[in-house]
Amino acid sequence: MPNQCLVCSTPIEPFHSFGRMPIANGFLLPEQFASEYFFELKVAHCPACGMVQLTEHVDREKMFHENYAFYSSTSKRMAEHFEQLAEDVRTRHLGGKDPFVVEIGSNDGITLQHFAGAGIRHLGIEPSANVAEVARGKGVQTVCRFFDEALAREIVSEHGQADAFLGANVMCHIPYLHSVAAGIRLLLKPTGVLIYEDPYLGDIVEKTSYDQIYDEHAFYFSVASVSHLFGAHGMEVVDVAPQHVHGGSMRYVIAHKGARPVSQAVERQRAKEHSLGLHQPATYKHLSRNIERSRDELMKLLRELKHQGKRVVGYGATSKSTTVTNYCGITPDLVEFISDTTPIKQGKFSPGVHIPVKPYAEFASRYPDYALLFAWNHGEEIMAKEGAFVAAGGKWISYVPKVAVL
Ligand code: SAH
Ligand code: TMP
Ligand code: ZN
Repeated sequence: MPNQCLVCSTPIEPFHSFGRMPIANGFLLPEQFASEYFFELKVAHCPACGMVQLTEHVDREKMFHENYAFYSSTSKRMAEHFEQLAEDVRTRHLGGKDPFVVEIGSNDGITLQHFAGAGIRHLGIEPSANVAEVARGKGVQTVCRFFDEALAREIVSEHGQADAFLGANVMCHIPYLHSVAAGIRLLLKPTGVLIYEDPYLGDIVEKTSYDQIYDEHAFYFSVASVSHLFGAHGMEVVDVAPQHVHGGSMRYVIAHKGARPVSQAVERQRAKEHSLGLHQPATYKHLSRNIERSRDELMKLLRELKHQGKRVVGYGATSKSTTVTNYCGITPDLVEFISDTTPIKQGKFSPGVHIPVKPYAEFASRYPDYALLFAWNHGEEIMAKEGAFVAAGGKWISYVPKVAVL
């Protein structure tokens, strides 16, 4: 029995399996190796509504809990990005009296802190208790729950409807999207706006950035598939804006149907998706071949460097790197350790292949010959501050959009 589309129930067409995969953010200690959880990471395309999605889903409680490893505010660039978003929402979308802003996946308060600071009524919905606690410490009102339609009803009866509903890198995490969309419809005032952003399918196809594909990302959105989803809930996409962050994201602005004028950018982006072939199965066959080629080229390079006796260290123990290391088979004999600034990851081992994760000081105190840029989406920020590494003869290895020594 083939899998059915989580949005429109049509049988979906799997196009690439990455094989046995652990939890992307499941950094662990040696005593946990024996009980490590694995699932098959496989992606499929829905020929009817265009939604690209995983075929198997990890229980949400296994991914989002009191030891969630991803703290949004570790990246300065992202902090600036979300400060701008908050500013944009405040100036363009909060006209009325006593406005109310709701955000899902509010994490450590990276965005809502700007509303809290301005005394604007807000509510963060964040099921991972550790990051939710950091947000509360910043004065951000946070409910430690998973958002769905039932919670939306509770919020409406307790706080009333919202002027703006935000979500960054979270909508694609939620398999039960119909419940989420129904909840947003209830929660938004007639003039309210939903603004959310996630890694964009068009960028994944164009750059072969297959490392965006991991357990937390149940969906890979396009303007076409998002329009279809929210259209089924009486809402429509009124604007879209490509974002440079996270290696290429799309911001969707969505409102109740007919409530706002639809920007020409929406149709323009849909036409672009059509010319990219995002609606065609052949595009995904091609992507699958490109993914295999990327893996083969990266492994060839790493094996050559090992043969030459070079030291290679990973830079950034990203969730994305879990797909790359496990799919390619990058083991500690090829990459000595991964440097990461997040305390909760340090001293642990990377999921599946068990490469040690060490504090940044280990990188800076004894530069390797090569740094494998697992955090390629923060590449500009990182390379700008690592001039001394390059001056000391160090080289960067990247694999998006192509495997290359930079
Ligand atoms: N918005 C932040 C965090 C993204 S990580 C940023 O862009 O940096 C995704 C976050 O969504 C995690 O903190 C996770 O705990 C949260 N999350 C996962 N499922 C959720 C759900 N159903 N409702 C609300 N938040 C959810
Ligand atoms: P992300 O790609 O999911 O945002 O994760 C980035 C990871 O990279 C996070 O664990 C922090 C780490 N990192 C560094 O170690 N050094 C850096 O300079 C940056 C920007 C990120
Ligand atoms: Zn579908």
